[in-house]
Amino acid sequence: MPHSAPPAPKSKSTAAIRKEVARRRTFGIISHPDAGKTTLTERLLVLGGAIQIAGDIRARKTGRAARSDWMAIEQQRGISVTSSVMSFEYRGRALNLLDTPGHHDFSEDTYRVLTAVDSALMVIDSVKGVESQTRKLMEVCRLRATPVLTFINKLDREGLDPLELLSDIEEHLGIAAAAVTWPIGSGRQFRGVYHIIDHALHLIDPDTGRPAVIPVEGPKDPAVDRYLGNQAAKLRSDIELLAGAGTLFDTEAYLAETQTPVLFGSAISGFGVKSLLDLFVDIAPAPLPREAVSAAGTQRSVLPVEEPFSGVVFKIQANIDRNHRDRMAFLRVCSGRFERGIKLRHDRLGRDMRVSNASTFFAGEREGIDDAFAGDIIGIPNHGTIRVGDTFTEGESFRFTGIPSFAPEFFRKVRVENALRMKQLEKGLRHLTEEGTIQVYRPLLTNDYVLGAVGVLQFDVVAQRLADEYGVDVTMSALPYQVSRWVECADKAKLAEFTRRKATSLAKDSEDKLAYLAENEWWLNRTMGEWPGVEFLSATEML
Ligand code: G4P
Repeated sequence: MPHSAPPAPKSKSTAAIRKEVARRRTFGIISHPDAGKTTLTERLLVLGGAIQIAGDIRARKTGRAARSDWMAIEQQRGISVTSSVMSFEYRGRALNLLDTPGHHDFSEDTYRVLTAVDSALMVIDSVKGVESQTRKLMEVCRLRATPVLTFINKLDREGLDPLELLSDIEEHLGIAAAAVTWPIGSGRQFRGVYHIIDHALHLIDPDTGRPAVIPVEGPKDPAVDRYLGNQAAKLRSDIELLAGAGTLFDTEAYLAETQTPVLFGSAISGFGVKSLLDLFVDIAPAPLPREAVSAAGTQRSVLPVEEPFSGVVFKIQANIDRNHRDRMAFLRVCSGRFERGIKLRHDRLGRDMRVSNASTFFAGEREGIDDAFAGDIIGIPNHGTIRVGDTFTEGESFRFTGIPSFAPEFFRKVRVENALRMKQLEKGLRHLTEEGTIQVYRPLLTNDYVLGAVGVLQFDVVAQRLADEYGVDVTMSALPYQVSRWVECADKAKLAEFTRRKATSLAKDSEDKLAYLAENEWWLNRTMGEWPGVEFLSATEML
């Protein structure tokens, strides 16, 4: 594919854009459910002055759930289904924190959210170590070379040995782990941390619970004995071991995603969170260039400081507020400046639109927005014209690449209870597909509606939302498929022959793309073996 050079940034960007872009840090928090993501988020927001007291976000979540029944699923099951964006300031930086659903059944949504961030914070429970969902999310970060900073949480509990935690990360996540702080004791013996780079003891003040920072010459400093007593020897031997055999902190290695710097703390008390945020704003990357391709097939990197605006939609959420009954497209600004009333080219439709009602978000609450820069997330209300993966520009014709759609692994046939509600069913399914929540297939040989999802909980959400938002009661029955692949073949005659021979296992998705549904991997492999030249794709880029 031809590759054209991006325009020279200096001539094409104003000083104001460059200054604002340099301030932005857009990131997501990844963790296995229950590791403490929400608690840490609250603590970060308190430090950023965005909320007054920890507990506010949980309270907001509860309030929101009361307004919309399907969100009650989040509550009942203690999981976060919806994603929101939180913006706050810290030490002169403008931070955009993208919340991600932690439950693996919603991982597709999480993956797409991760395409909109420049770096990630990973939370690990010190009692449990690396868990399954952490592994998967780390794989996604690796696919996109996203730098990851790690916070090992719940030090106030008796956890695994810190050295064991580091080797757990290295072994199971395949990335070098460089300790930046080191815990002194755990559980009831938890005294605080030693800051390896700053050479300081951060000890929990018994009166306030806050860290008291005591600069020292190093772990050998006699002051360490004075403060730590019999815990000093263990700290010294750990630090010596790390200095000899451990990975040393290196910003370049972090940015290259070959190491994750690690800090320890306890989100519930806020201990260690300030050190985490301070390091984050010091080293996390500002908005990065994004790859795009023109209609003619020319590839180019779009720089965040280019003056013309461009952005990509990574998430659609319908009926975000039932009073509005609209749909919100979440767009990551990739270059330039967004201003209220800007005229944008919707690349897929080749249509221009004036955007005067965009908003920012705060944990589900909307606020009007006047301007935004690369790295920011803005919400554009619409009535179904915008889809995940859509690119908006100020006129140049190109499309951002890399927003994936994953082949579903679970399938249900959906039947409407009252045949007169068929139109509503179709409308609801169309909206949910455009959000990227589910795939809807129409088998080639029947009139059925077949739903495909990455996790079974998505079906519960779909059924509840269809009833709640579209007034359609449905029943769902299981189907014997476990695997699906999008099918492509350059040889048209061969594709026609394949379609004829395999018609009983074929369906069209909502984009009219052909999909093959198989009972299991064995059948899939057999079919693939029988049809060389036919491509079976497990992920496709959303167009
Ligand atoms: P998540 O978003 O990653 O799913 O985790 P969340 O923050 O909801 O935390 C999960 C549980 O872990 C919560 O307890 C929370 O209070 C607890 N937790 C978070 N950080 C720490 C920590 O540093 N130390 C300890 N000991 N616990 C922590 P819960 O019982 O599920 O809820 P709640 O009753 O506390 O609200």
